[in-house]
Amino acid sequence: MATALITGGTSGIGAAFARALAARGNDLVLVARNADRLSEIATELKEQYAINVETMVADLAVRDEVIGIAERLTTAERPVDMLINNAGFGIRAKLIDLDTTPHEHAIDVMIRAVLMLGAAAGWAMRQRGSGTIINVSSTASFVTMGGYSAIKAWVTTYTEGLANELHGTGVKVTALCPGWVRTEFHERAKINVRSIPDLLWLDADRVVADCLEDAAAGKVVSIPSKRYKALITICEHLPHRVVRAVSRRMTSARH
Ligand SMILES: NC(=O)c1ccc[n+]([C@@H]2O[C@H](COP(=O)([O-])OP(=O)(O)OC[C@H]3O[C@@H](n4cnc5c(N)ncnc54)[C@H](OP(=O)(O)O)[C@@H]3O)[C@@H](O)[C@H]2O)c1
Repeated sequence: MATALITGGTSGIGAAFARALAARGNDLVLVARNADRLSEIATELKEQYAINVETMVADLAVRDEVIGIAERLTTAERPVDMLINNAGFGIRAKLIDLDTTPHEHAIDVMIRAVLMLGAAAGWAMRQRGSGTIINVSSTASFVTMGGYSAIKAWVTTYTEGLANELHGTGVKVTALCPGWVRTEFHERAKINVRSIPDLLWLDADRVVADCLEDAAAGKVVSIPSKRYKALITICEHLPHRVVRAVSRRMTSARH
């Protein structure tokens, strides 16, 4: 039986990964800050799928707590076969706000922790000659919507670099780049989503099913749904100044 470690496995896309992998008979290690929610989802999945679920309470903005999770990934006696670097959140702060702590917090969770956990999992999986790392990025990584786009652009490019480093080792690496997904993300970040048309909303379970299929096929970048595949293809072919202008409009509509 394989084991998957999922950061942010208590809500939204992370919880959808937890349900999908549990349904396939995988054991889980779930990481998040809220201990009550962790034990709630662990109990539910254990009862429903007769799997083993470990929970680890950790704030991934705190370096020492990330080290604790990295150590779990490198423990040879209890190997982790799949890492889902998923925990994250939206950023409302502007790039010219004098208080840059919201951006620094986001960088700690969505860049530093992703890097540290990817290194630990990549190192351990390479030794075993098998494993899968999925980093949850975003279609925002292809546009220029403030600090969040910059962070997710790092995640996508980092994933491509990691995939190159692990090429031929038996370890698969995928960046999941979803569009708008109905989760707690927007409410938590107080992002105004009224202007987002229904057509652009994706379902978390569907996003995860598509991603797991792409990861198994060895795709390095997974963009779920035909709609978003088409939008990103258009984006990649437009002059970049047009992408910037569209991003500018979208950013001001969200505040
Ligand atoms: N929803 C979208 O439209 C969308 C689109 C593209 C990409 N994404 C990406 O998808 C990922 C998951 O987002 P989601 O939409 O599923 O959001 P969500 O429903 O708000 O879930 C976020 C999860 O991350 C955990 N988390 C947040 N901060 C953490 C921290 N400092 N340490 C540990 N865990 C933390 C949360 O648990 P605790 O609060 O208990 O810690 C929760 O389990 C993020 O990386 C996000 O950027 C989302």
